Amino acid sequence: MKILVVGATGTIGAAVSDALTARGHTVLPASRSGAIKVDVERPDTLDAVFATEPGVEHVVCCAGSGSLVPVDGGTDEEFVEGLRGKLLGQVFLLRHAIPHLPDGGSVTLTSGRIPETLRGSAFGSLTNVGLEAFVAAAARELPRGLRVNAVSPGWVSETLAALGESDGGTPAAVVARSYVEAVETTGLTGRTLTP
Ligand SMILES: NC(=O)c1ccc[n+]([C@@H]2O[C@H](COP(=O)([O-])OP(=O)(O)OC[C@H]3O[C@@H](n4cnc5c(N)ncnc54)[C@H](OP(=O)(O)O)[C@@H]3O)[C@@H](O)[C@H]2O)c1
Repeated sequence: MKILVVGATGTIGAAVSDALTARGHTVLPASRSGAIKVDVERPDTLDAVFATEPGVEHVVCCAGSGSLVPVDGGTDEEFVEGLRGKLLGQVFLLRHAIPHLPDGGSVTLTSGRIPETLRGSAFGSLTNVGLEAFVAAAARELPRGLRVNAVSPGWVSETLAALGESDGGTPAAVVARSYVEAVETTGLTGRTLTP
């Protein structure tokens, strides 16, 4: 199958691209700075990719940007920017993919689990739980057998290692299996998969 992976240069996106390729799928790797340019905050960039890359059957989004804005800090503008970078950006991605995907095609989004003790976790919850609720409800509205799911990773081992934590987390290759499941499982929709 032909699959557009947005955020393909990231820790999770690279592992997802490798896993999908290993399953025999054709991956189109995209990000803001890659050869195939998609910015989830600018849905016109996704429209442009669909116009130039015919035959995309599934879209996977492992992109996310913005910081965890604390409830009692930052600015309202930072809050909105953060929502655009992950929550709204992925909502836009689904909305703009719908007219282009074939019957039975799918979109897989990324939410996540943030430790409650981490400052900014309320912002993270708003984004992640909001996305998961959106996915559950949006699945019922989609036409033509289109599917939408989310994957909710906890800490990824490689990310923790980059932060100086040598233990813990889930390897990106293991997280990637949930994305493969979301893409390949006919009839799976409205679900949040937890690696
Ligand atoms: N890593 C973890 O431990 C972990 C845990 C839970 C949840 N998550 C979630 O998983 C997602 C991916 O995490 P990651 O650690 O793999 O991130 P990452 O390593 O920082 O990679 C992010 C990827 O997304 C792309 N990107 C960022 N903003 C984008 C935008 N507006 N439009 C299109 N592409 C964009 C980046 O490339 P460009 O900069 O070139 O665009 C890059 O390819 C995020 O939503 C994150 O919140 C991660």
